[in-house]
Amino acid sequence: MKMTHPDCGRRLAGKYELLALAGEGGMAEVFRAQTCGAAGFTRPVAVKRILPHLTDNDEFVRMFVEEARVVSELSHPNVVQIHDFDQDEDGAYFLVMEWVEGLSLLDWSEAHRGAGVLTPWPLVAAIGIEVLKALGAAHERRSQDGAHHPIYHRDVTPQNILLGVGGVVKLADFGLARAMDRARMTAPDVVKGKLSYLSPELTRGGEASAQTDIFGLGIVLWETLTGRKLFDGSGPLQVLEAVKAAEVPPLDGFRLDLPRTLEDVIKTALAAEPEQRYASTRKMVRALSNLLRMTPEPTSAEVLGKTVKRSQERLAESRPSEMRESTQMLELGALEAVKPATPPPIPSDATAIPLTQKKS
Ligand SMILES: Nc1ncnc2c1ncn2[C@@H]1O[C@H](COP(=O)(O)OP(=O)(O)OP(=O)(O)O)[C@@H](O)[C@H]1O
Ligand SMILES: [Mg+2]
Repeated sequence: MKMTHPDCGRRLAGKYELLALAGEGGMAEVFRAQTCGAAGFTRPVAVKRILPHLTDNDEFVRMFVEEARVVSELSHPNVVQIHDFDQDEDGAYFLVMEWVEGLSLLDWSEAHRGAGVLTPWPLVAAIGIEVLKALGAAHERRSQDGAHHPIYHRDVTPQNILLGVGGVVKLADFGLARAMDRARMTAPDVVKGKLSYLSPELTRGGEASAQTDIFGLGIVLWETLTGRKLFDGSGPLQVLEAVKAAEVPPLDGFRLDLPRTLEDVIKTALAAEPEQRYASTRKMVRALSNLLRMTPEPTSAEVLGKTVKRSQERLAESRPSEMRESTQMLELGALEAVKPATPPPIPSDATAIPLTQKKS
C-alpha cells in the first residue's frame, strides 16, 4: 500500500500541490491536494490523475474531456463538483475536483462490518435519498436551449459515494464510465469490481437510462445493508451472468430489523426489467422519504456525520500500522490518506453479521 506517494509535495501545472494519495481506482489515482494562489492562499481539492496507459489512449482522453466538460456544468449539492482539467509536465491528464473530507460508502460499510454492527438502515435510506437527488439532477438536465439532455452516471458504486464528516453525501465520477464505454474500452479494461454494478440491460448491450442508475443504487443499498456483494463470481463472465440473472436474495435472510417497505423499495429498484423499476428518481425518493417518516430514528446530517467520524476511528483502530506510518497525515486531519489504495473486497461467503437489532 502506498502511504506516501513519490509525487507528494509535487506541484502540477504550477498550481496544484499533491499532499497525499487518497486512493486508486481502475482509471486514475486520487490525491488530496491544494490549490496554491497568491498571498499564500490555499484551498483543499482532489486531483484525479489518469493512469499512464489511459493517458496514451487518445480516444479515451478525448471522451474523458468531453464528459468532464458536460459534468462540470452540473452544479448540485450532492454532486462532486469538477473545477478544472489539465495536463501535468509529464503529459498526464488530471481532473481537479472538490475535496470531500470523510470516507467512501464502502469504507463506512467496512467500518460497521469490522466492528460487528449493522449499518443503521434509516441512515442507509437517507444516503440513498441524497444519491437519488444527485442522479435526478443529472437525469433532468437541460441544455441552454431548454432541450432535455440527461446525463446517466452508469457507475453508481459504494466507492463513488462519498460521505463527508459534516454528514454531506456526494456522488463522484459522473460520466466517466461513459467515456470508458465510448472509447470502446472492453471488459478486460474494466476492473472486475465494476462489472458487479452493471445492470442487466447493459450486459445485453442495451442503452443506459434513469433506470440503469436506479438499479446501480439498488445494488449499493442492498450491499450496504448486508455487508456482502450482491452479484459476484469467480471471473468477469460469471459476474456478468449473475448481473444478467438479477437474482436478489431477500434481505431478511441477512438481518431481521428492516421494515418490509424498505425491502420492497430495494426490490423495485432491482427489478430485472427496467420498466418494472421506479419510473424516476423522484418516485424512489418519495418511497424512501415516506418510509423515513414512519421511523423516530434521526437521519440528519449531524447524525450521519457522527457515524462518519466514528467509522474513521474504527478504520484507524483496525489499521494501526497504517496509522503509525501516517502520523503527519493525521495531524492534517487527512484520515482518507491512511486507507489502503484498494479496499478489501466484501467476501461473498462471509458469515452473517450478528444481529444487534430486533425486527421492527
Ligand atoms: N473528491 C474526492 N474527495 C475525497 N476523496 C475522494 C474524492 N474522489 C475520490 N476519492 C477517494 O479516492 C478513492 C479512489 O477514487 P477513484 O475514483 O479513483 O476510484 P474508484 O471510485 O474506486 O474506482 P473508479 O476508477 O471506477 O472511479 C475513492 O474510493 C475515494 O475514497
Ligand atoms: Mg471513483
